[in-house]
Amino acid sequence: MAHTLLVLNGPNLNMLGTREPGVYGKETLADVEAQCRATAEAHGLALEFQQTNHEGQMIDWIHQARGRVAGIIINPGAWTHTSIALHDALVAAELPVLEVHISNVHRRESFRHHSYVSLVAVGVIAGFGTHGYSLAVTHFAKLLG
Ligand code: DQA
Repeated sequence: MAHTLLVLNGPNLNMLGTREPGVYGKETLADVEAQCRATAEAHGLALEFQQTNHEGQMIDWIHQARGRVAGIIINPGAWTHTSIALHDALVAAELPVLEVHISNVHRRESFRHHSYVSLVAVGVIAGFGTHGYSLAVTHFAKLLG
């Protein structure tokens, strides 16, 4: 059976394409999903793609992923910098995690420089625009292959 990857997107990422295009680009979240699906398919991986503005919903999805998917790719949005609950959920899931940020958070405001998620992540991709998601899918293909 094909490995399944779960791609999770946090708050405000439903606004991609119209939200601060100078920072996040003009592609929509639907465009990102299509890129992820194409990359996953090319590597024989199944893929689930979700976005929520509700932290509890995100935590429920992470719990449900445990033992079910091969890995999580997550752009936690602003929860990256605030959420110990998200950190704890990812620890509890016991799955490999790749953290993705569209922008280079390290050349932005200092409050974006700390990530609770990085403590749990195999790796972090930041500043590659929406292409970062496809890079993460490709890396999982290598890890799982
Ligand atoms: C982001 C960076 C975060 O600091 C911000 O809150 C986001 C998006 C990114 O993809 O660059 O919502 O995760």
